Amino acid sequence: MNQEPKKDKIIIVDFGSQVTKLIARRVREHKVFSEILTLKDLNKKNTFKNVKGIILSGGPATVAKKNFPNIPTQIFNLNIPILGICYGLQLIVKHFNGKVKSNIKKREFGRAVLSEFKSSLLTKNFFYKKKCNVWMSHQDTVYKMPKGFTKIASTNESVMTIIENKNKNLYGIQFHPEVTHTENGKIIFKNFIFNICKAKKQWKLGIEKTRIIKDIKNIVKKDKVICALSGGVDSSVVALLVNKAIGKNLLCIMVDTGLMRKDEFKSSYKIFKNKYKLNVKIINASGTYLKKLKNIIDPEKKRKIIGNLFIKIFEKEAKKFNNVKFLAQGTLYPDIIESRSTTGSKTSKIKSHHNVGGLPKKMNLKLLEPLKELFKDEVRVLGNSAGLVKSILKKHPFPGPGLAIRIVGNITKEKIKILQKADYIFIEQLIKNNLYDKIWQAYAALLPVKTVGVMGDSRTYEYICLLRAVVSEDGMSADYFSFPKNFLDEISNKIVNGVKGINRVVYDITSKPPSTIELE
Ligand code: XMP
Repeated sequence: MNQEPKKDKIIIVDFGSQVTKLIARRVREHKVFSEILTLKDLNKKNTFKNVKGIILSGGPATVAKKNFPNIPTQIFNLNIPILGICYGLQLIVKHFNGKVKSNIKKREFGRAVLSEFKSSLLTKNFFYKKKCNVWMSHQDTVYKMPKGFTKIASTNESVMTIIENKNKNLYGIQFHPEVTHTENGKIIFKNFIFNICKAKKQWKLGIEKTRIIKDIKNIVKKDKVICALSGGVDSSVVALLVNKAIGKNLLCIMVDTGLMRKDEFKSSYKIFKNKYKLNVKIINASGTYLKKLKNIIDPEKKRKIIGNLFIKIFEKEAKKFNNVKFLAQGTLYPDIIESRSTTGSKTSKIKSHHNVGGLPKKMNLKLLEPLKELFKDEVRVLGNSAGLVKSILKKHPFPGPGLAIRIVGNITKEKIKILQKADYIFIEQLIKNNLYDKIWQAYAALLPVKTVGVMGDSRTYEYICLLRAVVSEDGMSADYFSFPKNFLDEISNKIVNGVKGINRVVYDITSKPPSTIELE
Protein backbone atom coordinates (compact mmCIF):
# COMPACT_ATOMS: atom_id res chain seq x y z
CA MET A 1 0.00 0.00 0.00
CA ASN A 2 2.43 2.61 -1.15
CA GLN A 3 -0.13 5.24 -1.97
CA GLU A 4 1.13 8.70 -1.07
CA PRO A 5 -1.31 10.15 1.46
CA LYS A 6 -2.61 13.54 0.39
CA LYS A 7 -3.25 14.63 3.94
CA ASP A 8 -1.14 17.00 6.02
CA LYS A 9 1.48 15.13 7.94
CA ILE A 10 4.12 15.52 10.60
CA ILE A 11 7.27 13.47 10.12
CA ILE A 12 9.37 12.17 12.97
CA VAL A 13 13.04 11.57 12.29
CA ASP A 14 14.09 8.61 14.39
CA PHE A 15 17.43 8.81 16.16
CA GLY A 16 16.82 5.59 18.03
CA SER A 17 14.94 6.52 21.19
CA GLN A 18 12.83 3.63 22.49
CA VAL A 19 9.90 6.05 22.78
CA THR A 20 9.99 7.50 19.25
CA LYS A 21 6.81 5.56 18.44
CA LEU A 22 5.00 7.39 21.18
CA ILE A 23 5.69 10.68 19.42
CA ALA A 24 3.90 9.33 16.34
CA ARG A 25 0.95 8.28 18.47
CA ARG A 26 0.74 11.63 20.24
CA VAL A 27 0.53 13.42 16.90
CA ARG A 28 -2.19 11.07 15.64
CA GLU A 29 -4.17 11.56 18.83
CA HIS A 30 -4.62 15.09 17.54
CA LYS A 31 -6.02 13.66 14.27
CA VAL A 32 -2.99 14.58 12.20
CA PHE A 33 -1.14 11.88 10.26
CA SER A 34 2.39 11.14 11.42
CA GLU A 35 5.13 8.98 10.02
CA ILE A 36 8.44 7.83 11.49
CA LEU A 37 11.39 8.13 9.10
CA THR A 38 14.96 6.96 9.30
CA LEU A 39 17.84 9.18 8.18
CA LYS A 40 17.99 7.22 4.94
CA ASP A 41 14.34 7.96 4.20
CA LEU A 42 15.11 11.68 4.27
CA ASN A 43 16.96 11.39 0.97
CA LYS A 44 14.05 9.75 -0.84
CA LYS A 45 12.00 11.60 -3.45
CA ASN A 46 8.81 13.26 -2.21
CA THR A 47 9.72 12.76 1.45
CA PHE A 48 8.63 16.28 2.32
CA LYS A 49 5.41 16.32 0.29
CA ASN A 50 2.50 17.42 2.51
CA VAL A 51 4.85 17.69 5.49
CA LYS A 52 3.73 20.47 7.83
CA GLY A 53 6.22 19.83 10.60
CA ILE A 54 9.31 17.85 11.49
CA ILE A 55 10.06 16.34 14.88
CA LEU A 56 13.59 15.15 15.63
CA SER A 57 13.45 12.34 18.18
CA GLY A 58 15.70 11.55 21.10
CA GLY A 59 18.39 8.92 20.84
CA PRO A 60 21.42 7.34 22.46
CA ALA A 61 24.06 9.23 20.43
CA THR A 62 25.83 12.39 21.48
CA VAL A 63 26.64 15.49 19.43
CA ALA A 64 29.53 16.11 21.82
CA LYS A 65 31.53 13.46 19.93
CA LYS A 66 33.14 13.86 16.52
CA ASN A 67 30.82 11.57 14.58
CA PHE A 68 27.13 11.71 15.31
CA PRO A 69 23.95 10.94 13.35
CA ASN A 70 22.91 14.13 11.61
CA ILE A 71 20.18 15.38 9.31
CA PRO A 72 20.98 16.96 5.93
CA THR A 73 21.59 20.69 6.50
CA GLN A 74 19.08 21.71 3.83
CA ILE A 75 16.24 20.53 6.06
CA PHE A 76 16.71 23.73 8.03
CA ASN A 77 16.07 25.71 4.85
CA LEU A 78 12.78 24.05 3.86
CA ASN A 79 10.73 26.54 5.84
CA ILE A 80 9.03 23.67 7.70
CA PRO A 81 8.77 24.09 11.49
CA ILE A 82 11.09 21.80 13.44
CA LEU A 83 10.78 20.53 17.00
CA GLY A 84 13.82 18.78 18.46
CA ILE A 85 13.27 16.51 21.46
CA CYS A 86 16.29 15.65 23.65
CA TYR A 87 18.91 14.53 21.10
CA GLY A 88 16.88 16.47 18.53
CA LEU A 89 17.32 19.65 20.58
CA GLN A 90 21.05 19.05 20.86
CA LEU A 91 21.29 18.57 17.12
CA ILE A 92 19.61 21.92 16.50
CA VAL A 93 21.94 23.56 19.04
CA LYS A 94 25.00 22.05 17.36
CA HIS A 95 23.79 23.13 13.93
CA PHE A 96 23.41 26.76 14.99
CA ASN A 97 26.76 26.87 16.75
CA GLY A 98 25.59 26.52 20.31
CA LYS A 99 27.43 24.15 22.65
CA VAL A 100 26.45 20.82 24.15
CA LYS A 101 28.45 19.09 26.86
CA SER A 102 28.40 15.48 28.02
CA ASN A 103 28.21 15.60 31.76
CA ILE A 104 28.05 12.29 33.61
CA LYS A 105 27.87 14.05 36.99
CA LYS A 106 24.87 16.15 35.97
CA ARG A 107 22.76 13.41 34.41
CA GLU A 108 19.04 14.00 34.79
CA PHE A 109 16.82 10.90 34.78
CA GLY A 110 13.22 10.92 35.90
CA ARG A 111 10.95 13.69 37.07
CA ALA A 112 12.08 17.32 37.12
CA VAL A 113 10.35 20.61 37.77
CA LEU A 114 10.39 22.93 34.79
CA SER A 115 10.07 26.69 35.34
CA GLU A 116 8.75 29.09 32.73
CA PHE A 117 11.03 31.95 31.80
CA LYS A 118 9.27 33.48 28.80
CA SER A 119 6.02 32.75 26.99
CA SER A 120 6.06 30.86 23.70
CA LEU A 121 3.62 29.50 21.13
CA LEU A 122 4.93 26.04 22.03
CA THR A 123 4.05 26.31 25.71
CA LYS A 124 0.63 28.00 25.57
CA ASN A 125 -1.48 26.54 28.45
CA PHE A 126 1.37 24.19 29.35
CA PHE A 127 2.49 25.71 32.64
CA TYR A 128 0.49 26.12 35.81
CA LYS A 129 1.75 29.03 37.89
CA LYS A 130 4.87 29.00 35.71
CA LYS A 131 5.76 25.41 36.71
CA CYS A 132 5.30 21.95 35.20
CA ASN A 133 6.53 18.43 36.06
CA VAL A 134 8.41 16.89 33.16
CA TRP A 135 10.26 13.64 32.43
CA MET A 136 13.97 13.92 31.77
CA SER A 137 16.42 11.36 30.46
CA HIS A 138 19.70 12.93 29.42
CA GLN A 139 23.36 13.22 30.10
CA ASP A 140 24.25 15.87 27.53
CA THR A 141 23.25 19.43 28.28
CA VAL A 142 23.12 22.65 26.29
CA TYR A 143 25.47 25.14 27.89
CA LYS A 144 25.85 27.78 25.19
CA MET A 145 22.75 29.12 23.49
CA PRO A 146 22.84 28.90 19.69
CA LYS A 147 22.69 32.17 17.77
CA GLY A 148 19.20 33.57 17.24
CA PHE A 149 17.57 31.44 19.95
CA THR A 150 15.95 32.42 23.25
CA LYS A 151 15.41 30.58 26.49
CA ILE A 152 11.80 29.65 27.28
CA ALA A 153 12.14 27.39 30.33
CA SER A 154 14.70 25.71 32.59
CA THR A 155 15.08 23.09 35.29
CA ASN A 156 17.64 23.28 38.09
CA GLU A 157 20.05 21.07 36.21
CA SER A 158 19.63 22.35 32.67
CA VAL A 159 19.21 26.04 32.03
CA MET A 160 18.14 25.74 28.41
CA THR A 161 15.42 23.10 28.68
CA ILE A 162 13.15 24.76 26.14
CA ILE A 163 14.56 27.09 23.52
CA GLU A 164 13.13 28.67 20.39
CA ASN A 165 13.99 30.64 17.32
CA LYS A 166 10.58 32.07 16.53
CA ASN A 167 11.60 33.62 13.21
CA LYS A 168 12.91 30.36 11.86
CA ASN A 169 10.17 28.25 13.51
CA LEU A 170 12.72 26.11 15.34
CA TYR A 171 11.98 24.69 18.79
CA GLY A 172 14.00 22.46 21.07
CA ILE A 173 13.08 20.72 24.32
CA GLN A 174 15.29 18.64 26.57
CA PHE A 175 12.53 16.64 28.30
CA HIS A 176 10.17 14.03 26.82
CA PRO A 177 6.63 15.35 26.25
CA GLU A 178 5.66 12.03 24.57
CA VAL A 179 5.76 10.00 27.80
CA THR A 180 2.80 10.16 30.15
CA HIS A 181 5.03 11.09 33.11
CA THR A 182 5.33 14.58 31.60
CA GLU A 183 2.32 16.53 32.80
CA ASN A 184 0.52 18.22 29.90
CA GLY A 185 2.89 16.67 27.36
CA LYS A 186 -0.01 16.47 24.92
CA ILE A 187 -0.32 20.27 24.98
CA ILE A 188 3.20 20.67 23.64
CA PHE A 189 2.25 18.53 20.62
CA LYS A 190 -1.05 20.33 20.19
CA ASN A 191 0.71 23.71 20.16
CA PHE A 192 3.41 22.54 17.80
CA ILE A 193 1.02 20.86 15.36
CA PHE A 194 -1.66 23.53 15.20
CA ASN A 195 -0.22 26.86 16.42
CA ILE A 196 3.17 26.46 14.83
CA CYS A 197 2.80 23.99 11.91
CA LYS A 198 -0.79 24.99 11.10
CA ALA A 199 -1.57 21.39 10.20
CA LYS A 200 -5.17 20.39 9.51
CA LYS A 201 -6.98 17.56 11.28
CA GLN A 202 -7.20 15.20 8.34
CA TRP A 203 -6.39 11.85 9.96
CA LYS A 204 -9.84 10.28 10.21
CA LEU A 205 -10.28 6.53 10.34
CA GLY A 206 -13.59 6.65 8.46
CA ILE A 207 -11.78 8.23 5.53
CA GLU A 208 -8.91 5.77 5.96
CA LYS A 209 -11.26 2.83 5.66
CA THR A 210 -12.58 4.09 2.33
CA ARG A 211 -9.04 4.83 1.12
CA ILE A 212 -7.74 1.43 2.18
CA ILE A 213 -10.55 -0.40 0.38
CA LYS A 214 -9.99 1.72 -2.74
CA ASP A 215 -6.24 1.09 -2.61
CA ILE A 216 -6.76 -2.67 -2.31
CA LYS A 217 -9.02 -2.61 -5.37
CA ASN A 218 -6.46 -0.61 -7.36
CA ILE A 219 -3.53 -2.77 -6.36
CA VAL A 220 -5.14 -6.19 -6.69
CA LYS A 221 -7.31 -5.52 -9.75
CA LYS A 222 -8.59 -8.86 -11.09
CA ASP A 223 -6.04 -11.02 -9.27
CA LYS A 224 -6.71 -13.19 -6.26
CA VAL A 225 -5.57 -12.67 -2.68
CA ILE A 226 -4.82 -15.21 -0.01
CA CYS A 227 -5.34 -13.85 3.48
CA ALA A 228 -3.44 -15.30 6.41
CA LEU A 229 -6.30 -15.36 8.89
CA SER A 230 -5.60 -16.22 12.52
CA GLY A 231 -8.81 -14.98 14.08
CA GLY A 232 -7.01 -12.20 15.94
CA VAL A 233 -8.08 -8.56 15.59
CA ASP A 234 -5.58 -7.54 12.93
CA SER A 235 -5.95 -10.36 10.42
CA SER A 236 -9.73 -10.35 10.93
CA VAL A 237 -9.94 -6.65 10.08
CA VAL A 238 -7.74 -7.27 7.03
CA ALA A 239 -10.01 -10.12 5.88
CA LEU A 240 -13.12 -7.97 6.19
CA LEU A 241 -11.57 -5.01 4.37
CA VAL A 242 -10.12 -7.12 1.55
CA ASN A 243 -13.46 -8.87 1.28
CA LYS A 244 -15.17 -5.49 0.93
CA ALA A 245 -12.69 -4.58 -1.80
CA ILE A 246 -12.55 -7.73 -3.93
CA GLY A 247 -15.28 -10.09 -2.64
CA LYS A 248 -15.02 -13.60 -4.05
CA ASN A 249 -11.41 -13.17 -5.15
CA LEU A 250 -10.33 -13.43 -1.53
CA LEU A 251 -9.38 -16.79 -0.10
CA CYS A 252 -8.78 -16.90 3.65
CA ILE A 253 -6.43 -19.55 4.92
CA MET A 254 -6.31 -20.44 8.58
CA VAL A 255 -3.16 -22.41 9.32
CA ASP A 256 -3.58 -24.53 12.40
CA THR A 257 -0.05 -24.61 13.74
CA GLY A 258 -1.17 -26.47 16.84
CA LEU A 259 0.23 -23.51 18.74
CA MET A 260 -3.01 -21.60 19.18
CA ARG A 261 -5.09 -21.10 22.32
CA LYS A 262 -7.44 -23.92 23.30
CA ASP A 263 -10.58 -24.08 21.13
CA GLU A 264 -10.01 -20.66 19.65
CA PHE A 265 -9.29 -21.64 16.11
CA LYS A 266 -12.52 -23.48 15.47
CA SER A 267 -14.72 -20.76 16.93
CA SER A 268 -13.05 -18.08 14.77
CA TYR A 269 -13.44 -20.33 11.72
CA LYS A 270 -17.16 -20.64 12.36
CA ILE A 271 -17.59 -16.86 12.64
CA PHE A 272 -15.88 -16.21 9.31
CA LYS A 273 -17.57 -19.07 7.53
CA ASN A 274 -21.11 -18.64 8.85
CA LYS A 275 -21.46 -14.99 9.83
CA TYR A 276 -19.33 -13.26 7.22
CA LYS A 277 -19.68 -15.98 4.56
CA LEU A 278 -16.02 -15.72 3.65
CA ASN A 279 -14.22 -18.21 1.50
CA VAL A 280 -12.19 -19.73 4.34
CA LYS A 281 -10.19 -22.93 4.63
CA ILE A 282 -8.37 -24.53 7.57
CA ILE A 283 -5.03 -26.22 6.94
CA ASN A 284 -3.95 -28.53 9.70
CA ALA A 285 -0.19 -28.28 9.89
CA SER A 286 0.32 -28.98 13.58
CA GLY A 287 2.37 -32.13 12.96
CA THR A 288 4.76 -30.35 10.62
CA TYR A 289 5.23 -27.46 13.02
CA LEU A 290 5.95 -29.75 15.91
CA LYS A 291 8.49 -31.68 13.86
CA LYS A 292 10.30 -28.54 12.65
CA LEU A 293 10.37 -27.02 16.12
CA LYS A 294 11.69 -30.14 17.84
CA ASN A 295 14.60 -29.28 20.15
CA ILE A 296 14.70 -25.66 19.00
CA ILE A 297 15.51 -23.47 21.97
CA ASP A 298 16.52 -20.15 20.41
CA PRO A 299 13.50 -17.78 20.19
CA GLU A 300 14.70 -16.12 16.99
CA LYS A 301 15.12 -19.55 15.36
CA LYS A 302 11.60 -20.47 16.44
CA ARG A 303 10.29 -17.29 14.83
CA LYS A 304 12.18 -17.87 11.57
CA ILE A 305 11.04 -21.51 11.32
CA ILE A 306 7.44 -20.56 11.93
CA GLY A 307 7.54 -17.64 9.48
CA ASN A 308 9.14 -19.74 6.75
CA LEU A 309 6.69 -22.57 7.19
CA PHE A 310 3.76 -20.15 7.02
CA ILE A 311 4.91 -18.85 3.68
CA LYS A 312 5.57 -22.35 2.32
CA ILE A 313 2.03 -23.37 3.20
CA PHE A 314 0.53 -20.25 1.69
CA GLU A 315 2.54 -20.58 -1.49
CA LYS A 316 1.51 -24.20 -1.80
CA GLU A 317 -2.14 -23.26 -1.35
CA ALA A 318 -1.83 -20.38 -3.78
CA LYS A 319 -0.71 -22.75 -6.53
CA LYS A 320 -4.01 -24.60 -6.27
CA PHE A 321 -5.82 -21.52 -7.56
CA ASN A 322 -5.36 -19.39 -10.65
CA ASN A 323 -4.02 -15.86 -10.43
CA VAL A 324 -3.22 -15.69 -6.74
CA LYS A 325 -0.66 -12.91 -6.58
CA PHE A 326 -0.99 -11.49 -3.07
CA LEU A 327 -0.68 -12.55 0.52
CA ALA A 328 -2.67 -10.25 2.80
CA GLN A 329 -1.72 -10.04 6.46
CA GLY A 330 -2.35 -7.90 9.49
CA THR A 331 1.00 -6.21 9.92
CA LEU A 332 0.70 -3.07 12.05
CA TYR A 333 2.82 0.04 12.29
CA PRO A 334 4.53 -0.95 15.57
CA ASP A 335 5.43 -4.35 14.03
CA ILE A 336 7.26 -2.56 11.28
CA ILE A 337 9.01 -0.12 13.56
CA GLU A 338 9.93 -2.70 16.20
CA SER A 339 11.30 -5.11 13.62
CA ARG A 340 13.54 -2.74 11.71
CA SER A 341 16.92 -1.56 12.87
CA THR A 342 16.55 2.08 12.00
CA THR A 343 19.32 2.87 9.57
CA GLY A 344 21.31 5.75 10.80
CA SER A 345 19.94 5.38 14.29
CA LYS A 346 20.80 2.90 16.93
CA THR A 347 17.50 1.34 18.04
CA SER A 348 18.47 -2.27 18.28
CA LYS A 349 16.14 -4.82 16.80
CA ILE A 350 14.42 -6.56 19.69
CA LYS A 351 12.54 -9.41 18.00
CA SER A 352 11.72 -10.55 14.47
CA HIS A 353 7.96 -10.43 14.43
CA HIS A 354 6.93 -13.31 12.25
CA ASN A 355 4.77 -11.23 10.01
CA VAL A 356 7.63 -8.85 9.30
CA GLY A 357 11.16 -9.92 10.13
CA GLY A 358 10.44 -13.64 10.26
CA LEU A 359 9.40 -13.85 6.61
CA PRO A 360 11.78 -15.40 4.09
CA LYS A 361 13.66 -12.94 1.86
CA LYS A 362 12.39 -14.52 -1.36
CA MET A 363 8.68 -14.98 -1.78
CA ASN A 364 6.53 -15.68 -4.80
CA LEU A 365 3.55 -13.84 -3.38
CA LYS A 366 3.45 -10.08 -3.03
CA LEU A 367 2.58 -8.80 0.42
CA LEU A 368 -0.60 -6.81 0.91
CA GLU A 369 -0.50 -5.12 4.31
CA PRO A 370 -3.40 -2.66 4.46
CA LEU A 371 -2.95 -1.88 8.17
CA LYS A 372 0.76 -1.26 8.16
CA GLU A 373 0.36 2.45 8.85
CA LEU A 374 -1.92 1.94 11.83
CA PHE A 375 -1.64 1.47 15.57
CA LYS A 376 -3.68 -1.23 17.33
CA ASP A 377 -6.34 1.08 18.76
CA GLU A 378 -6.81 2.58 15.29
CA VAL A 379 -7.30 -0.93 13.88
CA ARG A 380 -9.96 -1.63 16.51
CA VAL A 381 -11.85 1.52 15.48
CA LEU A 382 -11.62 0.44 11.85
CA GLY A 383 -12.75 -3.11 12.71
CA ASN A 384 -15.72 -1.76 14.59
CA SER A 385 -16.84 0.26 11.61
CA ALA A 386 -16.31 -2.76 9.35
CA GLY A 387 -18.75 -4.73 11.54
CA LEU A 388 -16.31 -7.04 13.29
CA VAL A 389 -17.91 -8.96 16.18
CA LYS A 390 -17.06 -7.77 19.71
CA SER A 391 -15.57 -11.13 20.74
CA ILE A 392 -12.80 -10.66 18.16
CA LEU A 393 -12.61 -6.89 18.36
CA LYS A 394 -11.81 -6.99 22.06
CA LYS A 395 -9.47 -9.97 21.89
CA HIS A 396 -6.07 -9.48 23.44
CA PRO A 397 -3.19 -9.47 20.96
CA PHE A 398 -1.77 -12.91 20.26
CA PRO A 399 1.63 -13.27 18.59
CA GLY A 400 1.99 -15.02 15.23
CA PRO A 401 4.35 -17.70 16.63
CA GLY A 402 1.70 -18.38 19.27
CA LEU A 403 2.46 -20.69 22.16
CA ALA A 404 5.88 -21.45 20.66
CA ILE A 405 7.19 -18.28 22.28
CA ARG A 406 5.26 -18.90 25.49
CA ILE A 407 6.80 -22.32 26.05
CA VAL A 408 10.28 -21.28 27.01
CA GLY A 409 12.82 -23.72 25.63
CA ASN A 410 11.94 -26.79 23.63
CA ILE A 411 8.40 -27.49 22.59
CA THR A 412 6.60 -30.81 22.99
CA LYS A 413 3.03 -31.92 22.40
CA GLU A 414 2.64 -32.58 26.12
CA LYS A 415 3.80 -29.08 27.05
CA ILE A 416 1.41 -27.50 24.53
CA LYS A 417 -1.53 -29.38 26.06
CA ILE A 418 -0.52 -28.40 29.60
CA LEU A 419 -0.14 -24.76 28.64
CA GLN A 420 -3.41 -24.61 26.70
CA LYS A 421 -5.29 -25.85 29.75
CA ALA A 422 -3.65 -23.38 32.15
CA ASP A 423 -4.11 -20.49 29.74
CA TYR A 424 -7.78 -21.39 29.25
CA ILE A 425 -8.41 -21.31 32.99
CA PHE A 426 -6.60 -17.98 33.35
CA ILE A 427 -8.50 -16.27 30.54
CA GLU A 428 -11.83 -17.75 31.66
CA GLN A 429 -11.31 -16.36 35.15
CA LEU A 430 -10.34 -12.96 33.80
CA ILE A 431 -13.58 -12.80 31.85
CA LYS A 432 -15.67 -14.05 34.80
CA ASN A 433 -14.15 -11.42 37.09
CA ASN A 434 -14.64 -8.59 34.57
CA LEU A 435 -10.90 -8.09 34.33
CA TYR A 436 -10.31 -9.13 30.71
CA ASP A 437 -11.22 -5.76 29.17
CA LYS A 438 -9.10 -3.87 31.69
CA ILE A 439 -5.98 -5.66 30.52
CA TRP A 440 -4.07 -5.09 27.29
CA GLN A 441 -2.77 -8.64 27.10
CA ALA A 442 -2.81 -11.66 29.41
CA TYR A 443 -1.58 -15.18 29.00
CA ALA A 444 -0.06 -18.18 30.69
CA ALA A 445 3.43 -19.41 29.82
CA LEU A 446 5.38 -22.51 30.71
CA LEU A 447 8.86 -22.26 32.15
CA PRO A 448 11.38 -24.98 31.33
CA VAL A 449 11.92 -25.78 34.99
CA LYS A 450 10.41 -28.48 37.16
CA THR A 451 10.16 -27.96 40.89
CA VAL A 452 9.06 -30.05 43.83
CA GLY A 453 5.62 -29.74 45.36
CA VAL A 454 3.24 -31.77 47.45
CA MET A 455 -0.33 -32.74 46.55
CA GLY A 456 -2.34 -34.84 48.93
CA ASP A 457 0.37 -36.88 50.55
CA SER A 458 2.50 -37.27 47.47
CA ARG A 459 5.54 -35.50 46.20
CA THR A 460 5.14 -33.84 42.80
CA TYR A 461 7.82 -32.74 40.38
CA GLU A 462 6.17 -30.56 37.75
CA TYR A 463 6.48 -27.43 35.61
CA ILE A 464 6.15 -23.81 36.69
CA CYS A 465 3.35 -21.84 35.05
CA LEU A 466 4.04 -18.14 34.65
CA LEU A 467 1.14 -15.74 34.35
CA ARG A 468 1.55 -12.45 32.56
CA ALA A 469 -0.98 -9.61 32.42
CA VAL A 470 -0.06 -6.13 31.28
CA VAL A 471 -1.67 -2.78 30.72
CA SER A 472 -0.41 -0.82 27.77
CA GLU A 473 -1.41 1.75 25.17
CA ASP A 474 -0.08 -0.14 22.21
CA GLY A 475 2.26 -2.87 23.35
CA MET A 476 5.34 -0.71 22.94
CA SER A 477 5.71 -0.12 26.64
CA ALA A 478 3.72 -1.85 29.36
CA ASP A 479 3.15 -2.17 33.09
CA TYR A 480 2.12 -5.32 34.87
CA PHE A 481 -1.50 -5.43 35.98
CA SER A 482 -2.17 -5.24 39.74
CA PHE A 483 -4.50 -8.14 40.59
CA PRO A 484 -6.37 -8.25 43.88
CA LYS A 485 -4.78 -10.88 46.15
CA ASN A 486 -7.88 -13.06 46.21
CA PHE A 487 -7.85 -13.32 42.41
CA LEU A 488 -4.26 -14.52 42.48
CA ASP A 489 -5.07 -17.03 45.24
CA GLU A 490 -8.00 -18.36 43.27
CA ILE A 491 -6.21 -18.60 39.94
CA SER A 492 -3.20 -20.36 41.43
CA ASN A 493 -5.52 -22.92 43.08
CA LYS A 494 -7.52 -23.51 39.96
CA ILE A 495 -4.46 -24.03 37.76
CA VAL A 496 -2.55 -26.28 40.14
CA ASN A 497 -5.64 -28.35 40.87
CA GLY A 498 -6.94 -28.39 37.31
CA VAL A 499 -3.83 -28.91 35.22
CA LYS A 500 -1.79 -32.03 35.60
CA GLY A 501 1.84 -31.14 34.92
CA ILE A 502 1.88 -27.82 36.80
CA ASN A 503 2.52 -27.59 40.54
CA ARG A 504 3.57 -23.96 40.90
CA VAL A 505 2.18 -20.66 39.59
CA VAL A 506 4.16 -17.42 39.50
CA TYR A 507 3.07 -13.93 38.45
CA ASP A 508 5.42 -11.82 36.33
CA ILE A 509 5.75 -8.32 37.82
CA THR A 510 8.13 -6.72 35.35
CA SER A 511 7.22 -3.86 33.05
CA LYS A 512 8.32 -3.31 29.47
CA PRO A 513 11.02 -2.04 29.40
CA PRO A 514 13.12 -3.63 30.90
CA SER A 515 11.37 -6.89 29.97
CA THR A 516 9.17 -7.47 26.91
CA ILE A 517 5.55 -8.57 26.90
CA GLU A 518 6.27 -12.05 25.52
CA LEU A 519 8.88 -14.21 27.21
CA GLU A 520 10.78 -14.98 24.02
P1 XMP B 1 7.01 -7.86 22.90
O1 XMP B 1 7.17 -9.26 23.40
O2 XMP B 1 8.00 -7.51 21.84
O3 XMP B 1 5.59 -7.82 22.20
O4 XMP B 1 6.96 -6.85 24.01
C1 XMP B 1 4.90 -6.66 21.80
C2 XMP B 1 3.59 -7.10 21.17
O5 XMP B 1 3.86 -7.83 19.96
C3 XMP B 1 3.36 -9.15 20.05
N1 XMP B 1 4.36 -10.04 19.43
C4 XMP B 1 4.24 -10.56 18.21
N2 XMP B 1 3.24 -10.49 17.31
N3 XMP B 1 4.46 -11.88 15.84
C5 XMP B 1 3.36 -11.17 16.12
O6 XMP B 1 2.45 -11.13 15.30
C6 XMP B 1 5.50 -12.00 16.70
O7 XMP B 1 6.48 -12.66 16.40
C7 XMP B 1 5.38 -11.31 17.95
N4 XMP B 1 6.19 -11.19 19.02
C8 XMP B 1 5.54 -10.40 19.92
C9 XMP B 1 3.20 -9.42 21.53
O8 XMP B 1 2.25 -10.42 21.77
C10 XMP B 1 2.79 -8.06 22.04
O9 XMP B 1 1.43 -7.79 21.80
